Amino acid sequence: MYPETDKIHAMVDVILGLQWGDEGKGKIVDYFAKDYDLVARFQGGPNAGHTLYVGEKKVVLHQIPSGVFQPDKINLIGNGVVLDPVTLKRECDTVASFGVDLKKNLFISERAHLILPTHRALDKAAELSKGQQKIGSTLKGIAPAYMDKTGRNGLRVGDLLDKNFTTAYIKLRLKHQKLLDNFAFNEDISSMEEEWFEALEFLKQLNIVNGEYFVNEQISKGKRVLAEGAQGSMLDIDFGTFPFVTSSNTISAGVCSGLGIAPQKIRDVIGVTKAYCTRVGSGPFPTELENEKGEELRKIGNEFGATTGRPRRCGWIDLVALQFACMVNGVTKIVMTKADVLDAFAELDICTSYIINGKESREIPFRLDRLKVEPVYQTFPGWNQPTDAIRSFNDLPSKMKSYVEFINNFLGVNINYISNGPGREQIISI
Ligand code: GDP
Ligand code: IMO
Ligand code: MG
Repeated sequence: MYPETDKIHAMVDVILGLQWGDEGKGKIVDYFAKDYDLVARFQGGPNAGHTLYVGEKKVVLHQIPSGVFQPDKINLIGNGVVLDPVTLKRECDTVASFGVDLKKNLFISERAHLILPTHRALDKAAELSKGQQKIGSTLKGIAPAYMDKTGRNGLRVGDLLDKNFTTAYIKLRLKHQKLLDNFAFNEDISSMEEEWFEALEFLKQLNIVNGEYFVNEQISKGKRVLAEGAQGSMLDIDFGTFPFVTSSNTISAGVCSGLGIAPQKIRDVIGVTKAYCTRVGSGPFPTELENEKGEELRKIGNEFGATTGRPRRCGWIDLVALQFACMVNGVTKIVMTKADVLDAFAELDICTSYIINGKESREIPFRLDRLKVEPVYQTFPGWNQPTDAIRSFNDLPSKMKSYVEFINNFLGVNINYISNGPGREQIISI
């Protein structure tokens, strides 16, 4: 038995994506934020596009945590995030236009790494050089920025306040220029650079803090912290479908390194999954439907990237991948989003295993992309009725309940909430 006091210190819950991103994290974080004091992003950068609705107005957040529209909540951009000052400035303007006082409720870790204009150029150059093998990056400079972090070259938010910042910038830019020359990449980035320096002046006016003390002080005061993930577990740099992944740890372990929080402080890991599955960019996707059913999911689900506008690839829910995600994250609760998108389907398939080289398997292999993977499906009858106006679990069609129950039993983790529309109020607690 653990002493009761240990539980008292477990004050951090996490919301993260269990698939390949775009599971609806923005809406879910916005919904849950009212129960917390502080919302913190722990990884990723402006590759994220988190959609939420403020009244009738749709907002897509890339850098700022999705708790920012809940009154009196503190939002922290943690050290694990890579920050593009230009995107941040633009986003701050949008958020402020809703009357949010960012001076009061937005804090930025001094250890967060900066995305430079040359990082964006390098991202583009690297992708172009890969040709058919391209990752399908969002071209926001994510991989080059994290490369400079792990390569111990990067510039951080705290460096902005150093008198030698410009010298350090010029040095790093020169290094990048050599790499760009190697790629024979010669786009002019001077206008980007001008905008970047302007945005830095704006960034300097924001609350720049020591994030790890900031967040731990909040915890010791008994405040409730919600950590917001970006991307999805299958895009994790270690456990995702490498190399078709992003460049950070998107899983729950990333919370500790991305905020400076000890693991025993983490209580619930709330995993978000769509009722089906999508992926944007290249890489393996075993349950992808390259047919009219996939088209229908895209159309009804409005599956177009919130950051890049690219059409998302669509397919059935994949329980092999979801079980893997539950394992590596230690998921304690699941939120299923976009259940309403399935309303129109007469039959629904759920992938329960893969056939790889003639053998059935329930495991994610080392290189999914190198294998011919055939999904094994169990077919369920669709409920074929609109569900987006339903607000209580009891009122849901029994066929939807069976669909949910099957997933619960398979994963051994319960779906505790069903989201049935993009609106704030369209969520059912089970
Ligand atoms: P995130 O990156 O995980 O925050 O997800 P995105 O914002 O990129 O994509 C999710 C999309 O689905 C957004 O357009 C949301 O407005 C929308 N959405 C979220 N939950 C639901 C839902 O339950 N039903 C429907 N129809 N749309 C939803
Ligand atoms: P949110 O937080 C979906 C994908 C890109 C590409 C790969 C690498 O909105 O769920 P990167 O720009 O990180 O180098 O791209 O990862 N990707 C996402 N896909 N949602 C995201 O974020 C994503 N962020 C990156 O499409 O395949
Ligand atoms: Mg998104």
